[in-house]
Amino acid sequence: MRLTYTSDVWYKNAVVYCLDVETFKDGNGDGVGDFRGLTQQIDYLAGLGVTCLWLMPFFPTPNRDDGYDITDFYSIDPRLGTLGDFVEFVRTAHDRGLRVIADLVVNHTSDQHPWFAQARSSKDSPMRDWYVWSDTPEPDDPSQVVFPDKENSFWEYDEGTGQYYLHSFYRHQPDLNVGNPEVRDEIARILGFWMELGLSGFRVDAVPFLVENVNPKLANPHEFLQDIRAFMTRRKGGSILLGEVNLPYKELIRYFGEGLGDQITVCFDFVGMQKAWLSMARQDAGPLAAALRERPQPPKDCQWAMFLRNHDELTLDKLTEEERHEIFRAFGPHEDMQIYGRGLRRRLPSMLGGDLRRIKMAYSLLFSLPGTPVIFYGEEIGMGENLDEEGRMAVRIPMQWSDDGGFSQAEPVREIPEGSFAPDRVNVADQKRDTNSLLRWFQLLIERYRECPELAWGDYTVLDTGHDAVLAHRCDVDGATMVIAHNLCDTALDVEVTLTRLERCRLTDLLVDDNLEIADDGTARLPMAPHGCRWLRASPPEIPPEDASIKAR
Ligand code: GLC
Repeated sequence: MRLTYTSDVWYKNAVVYCLDVETFKDGNGDGVGDFRGLTQQIDYLAGLGVTCLWLMPFFPTPNRDDGYDITDFYSIDPRLGTLGDFVEFVRTAHDRGLRVIADLVVNHTSDQHPWFAQARSSKDSPMRDWYVWSDTPEPDDPSQVVFPDKENSFWEYDEGTGQYYLHSFYRHQPDLNVGNPEVRDEIARILGFWMELGLSGFRVDAVPFLVENVNPKLANPHEFLQDIRAFMTRRKGGSILLGEVNLPYKELIRYFGEGLGDQITVCFDFVGMQKAWLSMARQDAGPLAAALRERPQPPKDCQWAMFLRNHDELTLDKLTEEERHEIFRAFGPHEDMQIYGRGLRRRLPSMLGGDLRRIKMAYSLLFSLPGTPVIFYGEEIGMGENLDEEGRMAVRIPMQWSDDGGFSQAEPVREIPEGSFAPDRVNVADQKRDTNSLLRWFQLLIERYRECPELAWGDYTVLDTGHDAVLAHRCDVDGATMVIAHNLCDTALDVEVTLTRLERCRLTDLLVDDNLEIADDGTARLPMAPHGCRWLRASPPEIPPEDASIKAR
């Protein structure tokens, strides 16, 4: 393991924690989370062990898409605090060794953004071309719209100027036109601004929409991604783009910058995530194993981001209709739990029926799969959703700090759930005192993950186990090897794996006190508890004392 790797290529084994300032902690008692509240909780986050905070949008907004509809890219939503509060927060995070990245939502603006007001004021407006207009848009396919509950087209007619404008998402989010060099410059200015205030990079919203839906079409849409990445690297080496690119692997791989790795630094593995859910639903490692085998290697110094849940719907759009329904049946059978006909609006612990063993296994899997783990706030304590909240907001509920909620002294911005995932059952304070809690499990997983560079840097191989329910893989780097196994079913099983080049080595379990031996022929028997998981590190066979004394002579 080369030293510069672990510090310079920091994102390869980062643990990214996504949170929304609005729902994390209220510092001024008005019911809305804010930067002051978040700053008070940084020691909690540092103690958890995460290394990078991803902030969902915190900019001024009419809030019709939870802040993904921005009216000013250079300031802070006044409900969340001031730029001063933001800088104090970043400074405190850095002081505790945490990096900060933020959502970069530049595929579109809010229709309330002054740029759009200017652009729609007349066809001759100097900003007209900052957005995408058409007299006669191509007929679009309503089955392709992103939010089919609210929209049935990508185009909206603008009465004032008699043309249609493009909106890849909601009609109140007109698409910015990166085909226009002025817009590209402005985006660089936005990146530069926040990097100057201490950000280490951005989670780029809706990347394919950003570069494809423009006018005129860019000769090479990827050149724009190369340009912004180069700009960032010039300003601050080591800054990253974490991309939301929900495409099949074949198309997705181009977004890293084929061969060169000069575009998106880290891409979410949406396919792997969906196959992991299919595997969990079937209690069959097959789909996930196939995805991992098929998944291309990212270019050098790029990385996959692994996740099981995020702030959106759990999208199952890359599966077949039949597969999707298998997951619905297993984890979200009621219509109210489903959304857009392609996803679920639940959090992981409730989908797994609150079964702690199974939940712990799922997160062990997440941390051990090759790629950078990204978690959504509250996952570490097993928060559930609140289906009374509209649409995707069901999972974006206030963080549960104590048995009375502890998020705010006032009426919180979103409703707190009742029942078995209510704060009196699921909260940080209780789990800190319970050595068996999910919170403690996360701390252990994060600690081990950070101690095992094999997982982040290694070449991985999916192993045959002879049992459908068990996924085993190994990660090798610079002569070090980890062997990982997860039992997706609730029956105890013994599996056998063949570990070439590790004959007679010892396997030390890093999660519990246990050692296993690898036989002369390289086979090893792994006893697996129901929903059990093993993180095994290989070490060379111990030399018997008499051989050791011969060697010494
Ligand atoms: C991305 C975000 C989602 C948002 C959409 C429009 O998909 O993850 O939350 O609504 O973009 O900005």
